[in-house]
Amino acid sequence: MTDRIQSFEEYQQEYDLSIRKPEEFWADKAKKFTWHKEWDKVLEWNFQEPKVEWFKGAKLNIVENCLDRHLATRGDKRALIWEPNDPNGQAKTYTYKQLHKEVCRMANVLTNNGVQKGDRVCIYMPMIPELAFAVLACARVGAIHSVVFGGFSSNAIADRINDAGCSFVITSDGMYRGAKELSVKETVDEALESCSTVDKVLVVQYTHCKVKMEEGRDIWYHEALRSAGKESELQIMDAEDMLFILYTSGSTGKPKGVVHTCGGYMVYAEYTFRNVFQNKDSEVYWCTADIGWITGHSYILYGPLLAGATTVMFEGVPTWPDAGRFWQIVEKHKINIFYTAPTAIRALMTHNIDYVKKHDLSSLKVLGSVGEPINEEAWHWYRNNVGRKDLPIVDTWWQTETGGIMISPLAGLTPLKPSFATYPLPGVQPVLLDGDGNEIKENGVEGYLAIKFPWPGMIRTTYGDHERCRRTYFGVYKGYYFTGDGARRDEKGMYRVIGRVDDVINVSGHRFGTAEIENAIDEHPQVVESAVVGFPHEIKGQGIYAYVICAEGCEDEDKLRQEIHEEVIKQIGKVARPDKIQVVDDLPKTRSGKIMRRILRKVAEGETSSLGDTSTLLNPEVVESIIQGRRV
Ligand code: PRX
Repeated sequence: MTDRIQSFEEYQQEYDLSIRKPEEFWADKAKKFTWHKEWDKVLEWNFQEPKVEWFKGAKLNIVENCLDRHLATRGDKRALIWEPNDPNGQAKTYTYKQLHKEVCRMANVLTNNGVQKGDRVCIYMPMIPELAFAVLACARVGAIHSVVFGGFSSNAIADRINDAGCSFVITSDGMYRGAKELSVKETVDEALESCSTVDKVLVVQYTHCKVKMEEGRDIWYHEALRSAGKESELQIMDAEDMLFILYTSGSTGKPKGVVHTCGGYMVYAEYTFRNVFQNKDSEVYWCTADIGWITGHSYILYGPLLAGATTVMFEGVPTWPDAGRFWQIVEKHKINIFYTAPTAIRALMTHNIDYVKKHDLSSLKVLGSVGEPINEEAWHWYRNNVGRKDLPIVDTWWQTETGGIMISPLAGLTPLKPSFATYPLPGVQPVLLDGDGNEIKENGVEGYLAIKFPWPGMIRTTYGDHERCRRTYFGVYKGYYFTGDGARRDEKGMYRVIGRVDDVINVSGHRFGTAEIENAIDEHPQVVESAVVGFPHEIKGQGIYAYVICAEGCEDEDKLRQEIHEEVIKQIGKVARPDKIQVVDDLPKTRSGKIMRRILRKVAEGETSSLGDTSTLLNPEVVESIIQGRRV
């Protein structure tokens, strides 16, 4: 007996049922889990407030479902395999029993140090096993985790801690990244200078670098473990209690805290994992993402563990010590399912093919792609060189807000088309809208991608600001969840997600709001105004192009560029550094004073011959000088 969809026809039947009887459909998918109380109602919703409640009234703990539930049948099966940054280092393996033990011990450390149900805990750590323990330990004790990606700066951490009012932080002394050893605790210390809500900081000793421990606030994890018991109580949660907050960028203001809740997220993460990747019990699955992003939450930890799979977690980078590192890991751990981002593929494509060829990749059965559109060239390279010309590639479209995969082939079942995410998963009802918010019914069209019916893994609110959630996602097109993406639907109804239609750019799969980067640049004392746009980048997908106006002219542009880089690193992190900075005298503006980004985008792309009508600008004369000064 298997509970996976087994054929494309079965997918069609299941999809059909999920649309006709969504409540019955999802109740059936939820049956397999351990609930302490069954739901009173499967779904209650409206997209106006918005208010979406799945499995209303049910009680559960997601970690009990990830770990305890498997102990009797899979206790000795490998749950987590950890591969260190350094290929000469020792990989670690945790069976379901062992992972359960580690998570219980960390859960006890948290409770012994005052963490309670509902508390917000910020986790800022490298990709080491303790990061997995930390996330799961929070969920076990009912604390709401807010994982902050290890590449973010102290300012970015502080913003996130303050927004969520975190009382507890879990971090490490340092980290390794390729050839570098970096400090981690020091960055947290800097952040905490502007955070008043944090009482305690739990520090995992990892690189043994020197750190300052603040008396009364900072606790070494290995010391705290000594007084932590082995058995840990589970906090029984309501299905709609918050499970985690994950910050993501939008087109305006500071990043917002996307909130996911326990019951619906659990059911959705497991269902999508199992069906998209077609994981079998004996298989080894590796998702190369960082747990600091939603992909790591849903498809390194929760989805695979809920499904009882063996999941791999990798600390390092694809190109160190050389461009064969991914393939060496595939060979070493006999990976069956490999899930990565187009940007990694494009980076590896630029290296000698021998880095791929010298490894035995015969264990691979399924390849996956996530985070940004995969261009056809990368798709074919991936399939031909990694996928032996015939493995299925699941191009999975989804978002932080959707909690799990929304549009994707089911591996080996759905017909493939390069660069198309193909069909919606059961339970997902996508539509294409025209500019006025009308549904475009026919095929062979492009439009704004929206979803017209709730699915269990969807965003419930943005932390501390429900109105922002309404405005951003439900206020643009009445009655729909708006994704911010544009998409094409071909004659057969297959979807291809083209990219963002708002002021969000996707740099190597990392999402940034142009306003967020502009705010960071504007912190530079000499900058009067800036405008940031994306431009096509061979490896990153999109690069960051910044136009800046400088007070009283600029004498040394290179120095200014360097300082702007430093400012962005300080405010956000290295990942948001502009690729190109052009100093301009003025920016093209409409008569109402709005920056004409369309023109700036075209110039950044080098398409200066098709700028369209510029005569309506307040200052058409600036366009020519901007074209002249374009950075190539
Ligand atoms: O523009 C889409 C793009 O990434 C955005 C979501 O980013 P984030 O919330 O950081 O989540 C990334 C991991 C799920 C989307 O709005 N995107 C993601 N996957 C794809 C994609 N664009 C095209 N094809 C995809 N497979």
